Amino acid sequence: MFQTNAYIDGQWRETGKRFAVVNPATHDVLAEVADCGAVEAEAAIAAAHAALPAWAGKTAHQRGALLRRWFELMADARERLALAMTREGGKPLSEARAEAAYGADFVDWYAEEAKRAYGRSIPANAASRRYVSIKQPIGVAAAITPWNFPMAMITRKAAPALAAGCSFVVKPPSQTPLTALILAELAQEAGIPPGVFNVVTGSDSAAIGQVLCESDLVRKFSFTGSTAVGKKLGAACVASNVKRLSLELGGNAPLIVFADADLDVAVRGAIASKFRNAGQTCVCANRLLVQEEIYDAFAETFTAAVKALKVGNGEENGVEIGPLIDRKAVQKVAELVDDAIAHGAKAAYGGAPHPAGANFFTPTVLTDVTPAMRVNREEIFGPVAPLIRFKTEDEAIAIANDTPFGLASYLFTSDIARAWRVSERLEAGMVSINEGVYSNAFIPFGGVKQSGLGREGGAEGLEEYLETKFLNFGGVS
Ligand code: SIN
Repeated sequence: MFQTNAYIDGQWRETGKRFAVVNPATHDVLAEVADCGAVEAEAAIAAAHAALPAWAGKTAHQRGALLRRWFELMADARERLALAMTREGGKPLSEARAEAAYGADFVDWYAEEAKRAYGRSIPANAASRRYVSIKQPIGVAAAITPWNFPMAMITRKAAPALAAGCSFVVKPPSQTPLTALILAELAQEAGIPPGVFNVVTGSDSAAIGQVLCESDLVRKFSFTGSTAVGKKLGAACVASNVKRLSLELGGNAPLIVFADADLDVAVRGAIASKFRNAGQTCVCANRLLVQEEIYDAFAETFTAAVKALKVGNGEENGVEIGPLIDRKAVQKVAELVDDAIAHGAKAAYGGAPHPAGANFFTPTVLTDVTPAMRVNREEIFGPVAPLIRFKTEDEAIAIANDTPFGLASYLFTSDIARAWRVSERLEAGMVSINEGVYSNAFIPFGGVKQSGLGREGGAEGLEEYLETKFLNFGGVS
């Protein structure tokens, strides 16, 4: 079912070494995948560099047509992609199907957007001059992507890169390389030329990352992952050769429920946001701030909804919460919960690993959480909802902004003026009002503060792979 070699220059490339890809729900070994290192990363960059002139030289319409074919093949392979994501990443099949559609949407959207890489005509300050700016592809783009969205975080980067006329090298995570290899198979079938889309699988992220960040042939680097790793990669990219950067890093999303909110809408939104992918997304609500007048009612209804969530192997019917990616993730979540309880929080539900297996954690509601607790200050990346009580709008905003991160934020209110006011004051790249999930291919997705640089998706996402060149035509008479 799975291709297990790396995809470099249109060829399936073997290596002397292999690494195991393990199903986090069952611990079964799904495949042994080519374990690439610096040599293969260099080869992929060389292939991308060689393929660049012909790819950049195609018209946007020609590139768009190939992207459209890639999208159609992804749509046909939706079930296969979904199953691969559930098996290697653990997310429930319903969520994996949604990601297969979400991931393909980037390719569909940028197949069109390729045609809109517009420059500008600029009024000149001399009668003999004409000024214009044009857009050109940056060059070879490289990316490192995370395991929590094995497909969409690749297409979110690859589709605008290819649309802009860049060639592309991706290092998928060692936990979820199989989905990336299916994307490569489909790219090959779609007729995307050799060297334009390359997948370098490997367990040594540091070695491959160093080559991608330091190579003079790579002009753009994009990373989705933790802030700590993003800072190191970003520093290497700038120090080595001042590469263009996109960084989508950690979050600590506040979800604020005001007393005037519709309680059912707020509970539904909080469940959707907090428990998507078992809490393992950068935009999951990390902490729930609830106004004191409705704190108890919200806690009761929310806890009842959490108790009803079905935990298990994502391949089983009706499962809503799959495993965490590995045992280390379970340990970190348990540590944060223990710390909160030691400092006075109460587990209204859950609070411990789940009997479904070593990588499972029971969906948890913590009440009486205070802003000083680690669970409020650190990214949980697990199915734990800390409920913090607040009195006033100003206090909620102060707690929400008291973090070095600024990716997603959410607020629930029926007061439109408050929705505007609070949205403008939240230090976050994205604010969702009265809804817990909003991601799609057409919006500018990204963060402020230490949550990252640049935007992915939408028109802004194409800009990340384009250079602006100014032309002065002198002596026009
Ligand atoms: C992420 O967790 O990094 C991405 C989440 C999304 O695209 O909605």
